[in-house]
Amino acid sequence: MSVVSIVGAQWGDEGKGRIVDYLAQKSDLVIRYQGGDNAGHTVVNDFGKFALHIIPSGIFNDECTSIVGAGTVVNFDTMAKELEAIPEHLQKNLFIDYRAHLILPFHCLLDGAEEAKKSGHWKVGTTKRGIGPCYSDKAARCGIRAVELLNPEILKDRLEMLLPKKNRDLEYYGLKTFTVEELMELCEKWRERFGKQIVDTLPIIRNAVEEGKNILLEGQLGVMRDLDWGIYPYSTSSNPTSGGACNTSGISAKKLDEVIGVVKAYSTSVGGGPFVTELFDEDGKKFQNIGNEFGATTGRPRRCGWFDAVALDYSSYLNGFTQLAITKLDVLDSFLKIKICTAYEIDGETYSQLPETSMQEKAKPVYEEMDGWMCDTTGVRKWEDLPENAQKYVRRLEELGGAKVKYVSVGPERDQIIVMK
Ligand code: GDP
Ligand code: IMO
Ligand code: MG
Repeated sequence: MSVVSIVGAQWGDEGKGRIVDYLAQKSDLVIRYQGGDNAGHTVVNDFGKFALHIIPSGIFNDECTSIVGAGTVVNFDTMAKELEAIPEHLQKNLFIDYRAHLILPFHCLLDGAEEAKKSGHWKVGTTKRGIGPCYSDKAARCGIRAVELLNPEILKDRLEMLLPKKNRDLEYYGLKTFTVEELMELCEKWRERFGKQIVDTLPIIRNAVEEGKNILLEGQLGVMRDLDWGIYPYSTSSNPTSGGACNTSGISAKKLDEVIGVVKAYSTSVGGGPFVTELFDEDGKKFQNIGNEFGATTGRPRRCGWFDAVALDYSSYLNGFTQLAITKLDVLDSFLKIKICTAYEIDGETYSQLPETSMQEKAKPVYEEMDGWMCDTTGVRKWEDLPENAQKYVRRLEELGGAKVKYVSVGPERDQIIVMK
C-alpha cells in the first residue's frame, strides 16, 4: 500500500499531470486535492493528448477511482466541457466531494474585473477562472458547496444571502448582475448532469486507506504560488503543498508514504510576481520554443529561466520531499552550458534561503555552470544510457533538492521516462 502526494516544486507547470498519468496506471485512487480549473495538466497517452483542468489525471485508468476533492473549487460548466473529450467508459469512476465549492459565473467576472483594476506592478495575472473570488467566499463562509446542488431549498436560501453582496460588487465594476432564479436554473442543469457523482468521498477514501490501496494525491500549481508559502500576493488562493494535500484530501499526514516533488529541469512561471532567474535573451526564447512553454489553460507564453535551487531547497523543506521526479530534461539537450542558481544577491548580501516576495524582486541570481551534453535524450529509457553530463546535472539537482531522484522524464509521452532503481 502507498499513499503518494505529487507536488509541483516550483511555479506550476512542472509536469504533474504527466507524472500522475504515469503513476496512475498502478493506482486505485487519485484525488485532485485543491485548486480549480486554473490547472492545465497535460497528459499524452494512448488515448490522445489532453489538457486537464479539473479532472484528475488518473482518469485514464478505468480501474482507478478519480476524486475531485473536498478542497477544490469546481466550475461544472468547464467540467462538462472537459469531459466531452474523455471516452465515456473512463468517466464511470469519477466523483466530486460534496464539500467542494461551486465556482459561479460571477466569480469569473469578478476575477477579471479585480485584476483589471490593479496597477501593472500588482497584477497577479490570474487565469480568470474565478479561483480567488470563490475561495474568498469560502473563507468568508458565504460560499456555496456542491452538496447544495442536491438540496434546492438550501441552495436558494444560500443564494439569496450571497447574491446581494455579489451584485453590489458587480455593479461597482459595471458588470452584469444576476438573479437568484437564473442561478437556480444553472444549478438545476448541473444537478441533472452531475448530481449522482456528488458524494461524500470520505468513505471511499477511508476504505482505500484502510484496505491498503495505492493512492495518489494530485496537486495543482506549485509551492511558489501557495497561498501561505508562495510569492504572496502573486499566489493562488489554496495550498498546493503536501500539508495542503493531507488537509484537503481527507488523509492524515501520518498515512503519507511518499512525497514526490515534480521538478522541471529549468524554471518557468506564468503570471505576475518575482522570478529571479528569468531570461530575456536567446536562451530564454530557446526554452520557450523547445519546451513549448505556453500555458495549457490560457495559452499565455510562460516566462523562462535557469534552474533555481534556492526555490527548490525551500520547497523541498516545506513539503518533505522523499523523492523527486525531474521533468523536461530533454529540453536541455542542445545547451552547450547550463546554469543553476544556487543563491540570490540582494543589495550586496548573499542569500541561500528564500527571502520575502519584495526582496526576491530585487534579487540577482548567483550561478554555477555545468557542461551540457549536446545530444538527444528523448529515446533514453535507462539511467546508464543517459549521457554522463546529463547524469551529473540530475545528480546535482538531487543534491540541491535533498531528496532522491526517482523519475527522469525525457518527453511528454507516457513511456518517455527513466525509472531509477
Ligand atoms: P502541469 O501543470 O504540472 O501538469 O504541467 P503542464 O502540463 O502545464 O506543462 C508541462 C508541459 O511539458 C506539457 O506540455 C507536457 O506535455 C510537457 N512535458 C511533460 N514532461 C515532459 C518532458 O519530460 N519533456 C518534454 N519535452 N515535455 C514534457
Ligand atoms: P498548473 O496546475 C501555472 C498562476 C496564475 C497567476 C496565479 C494565480 O497547471 O500548474 P489563479 O487563477 O490561481 O488565481 O492565478 O497563479 N497559476 C498558474 N501558473 N500553472 C498553473 O496551474 C496555474 N494556476 C494558476 O498565472 O499568476
Ligand atoms: Mg499546467
